[in-house]
Amino acid sequence: MVQRRRLIVGNWKMHKTIPEARELVQELTDLLDAPAMASVTTVLAPPFTALSTVALAIQGRPYLLGAQTLHWEDQGAFTGEVSGVMLKDLGCRYVIVGHSERRRCFGETDVIVQKKMVAALRHGLRPILCIGETWDQRLSDHTERILSLQLSEALTDVGKEVGDVVIAYEPVWAIGSGRSATVAQVHEAHLHIRTQLVALLGQDTGAQVPILYGGSVTPDNIGELLPIHEVDGALVGSACLNPVLFAKILQIASASPESYQHPSFPA
Ligand code: 13P
Repeated sequence: MVQRRRLIVGNWKMHKTIPEARELVQELTDLLDAPAMASVTTVLAPPFTALSTVALAIQGRPYLLGAQTLHWEDQGAFTGEVSGVMLKDLGCRYVIVGHSERRRCFGETDVIVQKKMVAALRHGLRPILCIGETWDQRLSDHTERILSLQLSEALTDVGKEVGDVVIAYEPVWAIGSGRSATVAQVHEAHLHIRTQLVALLGQDTGAQVPILYGGSVTPDNIGELLPIHEVDGALVGSACLNPVLFAKILQIASASPESYQHPSFPA
């Protein structure tokens, strides 16, 4: 049986000034019991402007730093962009890639997403690759096709570090809607993603890649999401901005330290 550690990622999106970021980390820490947190990997992904503040605030605390996107080149004339080298420099360990908000609002295609995956891995950053269908795609029965396509395009030629990839299944319609996917929908999608990962990367690597669920995750639904087969953790949006809610999510995750593999995917 492959043991995959629980991974909970807070995506702050475009929220929090520097003093607010410092306060959020402090409030979260005050609410959490450090030994209990040892069983969960917790990643905070603030906006670029707060990365160095959060990097300082989490020193000696059980959190890792993540960014929300990166450029695929290391440096150059790319006004407004931030590279993997720069993120590494700030102490980032993870970076979100291909979030549906970036695909929708900033025109990120699967080709761009693939370049970002390569760049992240090249700099030793673990990319959290977001994939997910729109509501129309679900209604027209294209969910599995979309997931397979996004996955295979993003993982093309990413090289030998592919085992460091994290996948986040984020159905677009569940993001920020207050309407999480159902247990059955999450189960079906994660199983499909695991099958694709094993087909693309081989049994060993395909079984080791964590798959997170994201989309309206709260303390009220995390307890039913984590026990689903092939759900290794969560990518949390709005609830991570509230220290009480995020602390509850982390506490529930730390009380549920094992992820469950589907019987057909033994190690
Ligand atoms: P919400 O949790 O606000 O639905 O956002 C999910 C998300 O987009 C995380 O990346």
